[in-house]
Amino acid sequence: MPLTISARAANPATLNTPLLVALLPTGTELPTHLKALDKAVGGAIGRTLRRGDFRGGRDEVLHLTGGSRGPRRVLLVGYGTPTDRPLALRRAATLAARQAHRLGAGSLALLAGAVDAREAEQVLVGLQLGCWEFTDLRTPPPEADRRAPLTEATLIADNAKALGSVVDNAIAIGAGYDLSRRLAQMPGNLCTPDLLADTARDVGTRHSLKVTVLGRKEMERAKMGSFLGVAQGTPQDPKLVAIEYRGGPKGEKPIVLVGKGLCFDTGGISIKPAERMEFMKFDMCGAAGVIGAMEAIARLALPVNVVGVFGATTNMPSGTALKPGDVVTASNGKSIEIINTDAEGRLVLADVLSWVTRFDPAVVVDAATLTGAVVVALGNFTTGALGNDDTLVAEVVGAARRASEPAWQLPMSDDYRELIKSDVADIKNTGGRAAGTITAAMFLREFVSYPWVHLDVAGTAYSESDLTIIPKGPTGVPTGTFIEFVRGRAH
Ligand code: BES
Ligand code: MN
Ligand code: ZN
Repeated sequence: MPLTISARAANPATLNTPLLVALLPTGTELPTHLKALDKAVGGAIGRTLRRGDFRGGRDEVLHLTGGSRGPRRVLLVGYGTPTDRPLALRRAATLAARQAHRLGAGSLALLAGAVDAREAEQVLVGLQLGCWEFTDLRTPPPEADRRAPLTEATLIADNAKALGSVVDNAIAIGAGYDLSRRLAQMPGNLCTPDLLADTARDVGTRHSLKVTVLGRKEMERAKMGSFLGVAQGTPQDPKLVAIEYRGGPKGEKPIVLVGKGLCFDTGGISIKPAERMEFMKFDMCGAAGVIGAMEAIARLALPVNVVGVFGATTNMPSGTALKPGDVVTASNGKSIEIINTDAEGRLVLADVLSWVTRFDPAVVVDAATLTGAVVVALGNFTTGALGNDDTLVAEVVGAARRASEPAWQLPMSDDYRELIKSDVADIKNTGGRAAGTITAAMFLREFVSYPWVHLDVAGTAYSESDLTIIPKGPTGVPTGTFIEFVRGRAH
């Protein structure tokens, strides 16, 4: 059930709410805006702070019971001493919603003191992220064991009247994340290229956007030998999908967002080890990010032209699958020697990146769970960013930071080109162990003819463990980065 969010002015001391959340920075001082509430709960908050039982550190949480009137419970959530207050508030709000959801509070009111529009938006987005869960495939627990899911959250702010569009924007962004994460969490047998294409069509129908879908036949006609090489191992029809949002001036070149949509990546004939292979259902997080971002962008009604594109298929070993040593030819005419069939994302993107030239892009940003090497380089909290225009890379990195999805640039230079030279074809699809993320980007660059940034989200799009504010599973990356990048250009 989606979370209903709102903002209003109210006296927290007399609020009849099951849960009042107070976000606090590091310190022992009771903030002025909590004085009345403190009184209503018999001075419990002030005492807690004075005793040092709660210090307002990042991710610190303390649950107090309320008084006989007013809020029934109070949840203190710390946000430390932040360098970026909006993002710290967002994180604390996410944690609060997660706790409230587990608690079965049903609804909450949140106090963050004085907030500006950006802070309010981040809090409201954070609340929605915090209560996200995917329960479609689980038998519901018996009635008696059920707890009330969090369905309502109110930001208490004196300037609430001025925050009307902020609430709408936060809902739009929340809906984008929700859709992305849902698709990502769905298993490979349900989230197929067909389902991704149908979901794109649904986004298109609801927002009157043009949606184009190419299947195997159309791709054969377009001579997309590289994408089709990957798809030849599966009976599922591969899909190349474009969702066109035209909110900007007619004739203005669009921003093109591209996503890798491998609904499952077994590795193909170069098969992956069984252990942790189940996580390869997340190999479509780039595509999920594109779909979610298009949902949000349409809801935000941004005055820009944006085309969201993804290539969807499944990488399977089979009697018809691609083999190491095979040579395929992409639609731009370049021949590719297959060294490792597990380097399939770049093969799909080769034809997708060539195809998007037809939109005459102002810029293309692609996101792909492309290399395990990016996890070695940057770990699980930072996306790798590479491109053919450093100013543009910096712009995308800035958008990623605003979205709380940090990215960091890795270098590209012609020196690395040597590593993907083939003995028999124009290029080969792997460059060896060294600089795996960079050689993958070098490969993509062979199919790019416009200003371009590539985001390698293999380490950041999903988590194999619980991350305090995010449960094990899809993080939503790169949805927010796409949205913020487009927003940043919509002025
Ligand atoms: N989908 C994987 C990359 C990946 C790895 C995503 C770990 C998420 C977590 C990609 O298709 C792949 O298999 N890449 C290979 C490339 C190699 C064969 C050059 C890799 O990273 O091992
Ligand atoms: Mn692979
Ligand atoms: Zn893959």
